Amino acid sequence: MTTASSADHPTRRDFLFVATGAAAAVGGAAALWPFISQMNPDASTIAAGAPIEVDLSPVAEGQDIKVFWRGKPIYISHRTKKQIDEARAVNVASLPDPQTDEARVKSGHEQWLVVIGICTHLGCIPIAHEGSYDGFFCPCHGSQYDSSGRIRQGPAPANLPVPPYQFVSDTKIQIG
Ligand code: FES
Repeated sequence: MTTASSADHPTRRDFLFVATGAAAAVGGAAALWPFISQMNPDASTIAAGAPIEVDLSPVAEGQDIKVFWRGKPIYISHRTKKQIDEARAVNVASLPDPQTDEARVKSGHEQWLVVIGICTHLGCIPIAHEGSYDGFFCPCHGSQYDSSGRIRQGPAPANLPVPPYQFVSDTKIQIG
């Protein structure tokens, strides 16, 4: 009788422990990554390459956020007027990978830059808001991208790619 009782109780306790632990882990992750949990669908949907929606309303002017789409880091920059003006004042013909700022953002939403955060040199992750052009700096071999994500200096041959995305409302985009 004692044996039967002790065999039942640990089983039940183990189940409760696991269930509580899982709930705590989910709660902790949500607290640590409020943006990510709010913006992304569940993991299996993301793994299948589904589009993700990103709410831009919490991103203040001058801030950048990073989300993941199809396993790739995506930088979303809420550009200041100064950053936009600097990007548009550049002589496009002088760029290693000539492209206008207008061609890299959505008309009417010029303040938002959305780029894939993978250096076009050897694939490192550049750092946002760093470097000489108030854009992105890749610490691996010193490539510098401007506030439009265009390569300006260093060994990278091409601009940071713009992923497919669209505005689904004034403050929300869908990537993919
Ligand atoms: S990987 Fe970025 S500069 Fe080489």
